Amino acid sequence: KLPVSIYKDEMTASIKVANRIAVVIKEKDAKGEKTVLGLATGATPVNVYKELIRLHKEEGLSFKKVITFNLDEYYPMKPDATQSYVAFMKENLFDHVDIDMMNVHIPNGELAEEQIFDFCANYEKKITAHGGLDIQILGIGRTGHIGFNEPGSAPNSGTRLVTLNDLTRRDASRDFGGKENVPKKAITMGVGTIFKAKQIILMAWNQKKASIVKKAVEGGISADVPATYLQLSDNVEFILDIDAASNL
Ligand code: GLP
Repeated sequence: KLPVSIYKDEMTASIKVANRIAVVIKEKDAKGEKTVLGLATGATPVNVYKELIRLHKEEGLSFKKVITFNLDEYYPMKPDATQSYVAFMKENLFDHVDIDMMNVHIPNGELAEEQIFDFCANYEKKITAHGGLDIQILGIGRTGHIGFNEPGSAPNSGTRLVTLNDLTRRDASRDFGGKENVPKKAITMGVGTIFKAKQIILMAWNQKKASIVKKAVEGGISADVPATYLQLSDNVEFILDIDAASNL
């Protein structure tokens, strides 16, 4: 019952997702409304952002009235560090479009630990105050995480500080020059936060995602694979390339 669309390759699929986002921005623009986007990092959405940049440069798509909330950030993490999701988003999207950086929200990786609880509550409030997320895009980690909601995350979880799984830290080790340098924690939107989005698009490419994609789509709903919670949403679509879909 979970809607799954399979495309011949990552680029074709990424262009589809970018177009879906562009349609929402244009529809809202036409009504004089702002668009609230939930954004993701990692390798998966890079070509979606490339296509959005192309639509901006070549077809006049404007981000002036777009408000963004990123899913997550490592903790601790300085925003100007090369591995930060702030740096990632600037490099892959924000520096190349006409977005107002005042409209950009990314969890703050340099808070003192005692400030995090209030920060997270406020992050949720801000999303709600802007009318909620119009579209949330997601990748999927090999642990089955969405955002950084690792196995054990509750379906109603909110934005919070979490501990990263060993496999997640191993997968991130290349960016950090060794697993020992990967932060042990992260601040992430919760599963419940993601669920409130009006549209959720989970993307996965490559053979290495095939087995976790199978679990997410066909496996029993379980905290062991947080992406399985998406089976409970009426507003989700999985967008896959042939390789990521190869075990379905
Ligand atoms: C990271 C991010 C997730 C992302 C996932 C997959 O840890 N926090 O939001 O979806 O891992 O990463 P990639 O797209 O590089 O495979």
